[in-house]
Amino acid sequence: MPLPKAELHLHIEGTLEPELAFELAARNGVTLPYADTDELRKAYDFEDLQSFLNLYYELMAVLRTEQDFADLANAYLARAAAQGVRHAEIFFDPQAHLARGVSMGTVVEGLWRALGSSEENHGISTRLILCFLRDESAESALRTLDAARPYLDRITGVGLDSAEVGHPPVKFREVYEAAAALGLRRVAHAGEEGPPAYITEALDALGVERVDHGLRCMEDPALVERLVRERIPLTLCPLSNVRLRTVDTLADHPLPAMLDAGLVCTVNSDDPAYFGGYAGDNFAAVHHTLGLTEDRLRELARNSFLASFLEDDEERRARCLAEVDAYEFAGDAVS
Ligand code: HPA
Ligand code: ZN
Repeated sequence: MPLPKAELHLHIEGTLEPELAFELAARNGVTLPYADTDELRKAYDFEDLQSFLNLYYELMAVLRTEQDFADLANAYLARAAAQGVRHAEIFFDPQAHLARGVSMGTVVEGLWRALGSSEENHGISTRLILCFLRDESAESALRTLDAARPYLDRITGVGLDSAEVGHPPVKFREVYEAAAALGLRRVAHAGEEGPPAYITEALDALGVERVDHGLRCMEDPALVERLVRERIPLTLCPLSNVRLRTVDTLADHPLPAMLDAGLVCTVNSDDPAYFGGYAGDNFAAVHHTLGLTEDRLRELARNSFLASFLEDDEERRARCLAEVDAYEFAGDAVS
């Protein structure tokens, strides 16, 4: 039995496996510029974040109908459940779909077909987080938040993703203020490829409650001290960092040093179809390659539930934490 965990950094569009991409392409009459899944997988050799994003946006062309989004989410939830995920806070990128003529309603209602019954069907409670694309304008982000208004009962928070360098958090101050006024929770990617100053700015200008990635905080001891003091959770994605060359190899990942520093770390999969593993695969990788002890793995799992937006269901949080505490590590079953 895998260690129970929450996944807090997961782009639903990044769970599109090659097989499903071709299935949806055929269903929707979309032609992909790859002969088959083998040829597509050969394109998964990324230089950096942008080279990944180019493929990530290209493959989204196959997502057209509510059922496509439902199938995508159900496929993720089934895989996540098999790896011990009990709660998932799921990012989606509406601007990437609106730009292709796919409406906010198609995306949210489609995802909801899977998420609305996920606890019964997969044993996973879920929340949705709408991400703004930081390489689009602040006005576009405001229009996107406006388009989401009819669906706010299904959306828990807002996030910020896509190409980081050159797009500092402060550009989105106004839309984050508007989101907060609507009662939405706030997170943002910062310090993945961008400098530690972007992490500080995400906290101060956007009021984020969690930082996605936050890896580069380690370059600024005063920032580390602040993140520890304020208990700001970081949603780390080790296999993503390797594939996007944010770290040279997994053995070089600063996760052990981050835990030793007292940071509230969590381990997540980011875009599992592209980066070689789902949540449990990331746990197994840091266990084997970084030699994290069982106590550390349990701490990561506890952190994931503590850092989750389960304030509206404290009973579930307590139940999940109790499951983590009672978990007995057996052999290799960390994933
Ligand atoms: N970083 C930034 N934007 C993204 C990512 C990521 O890892 N995945 C999907 N959008
Ligand atoms: Zn991400």
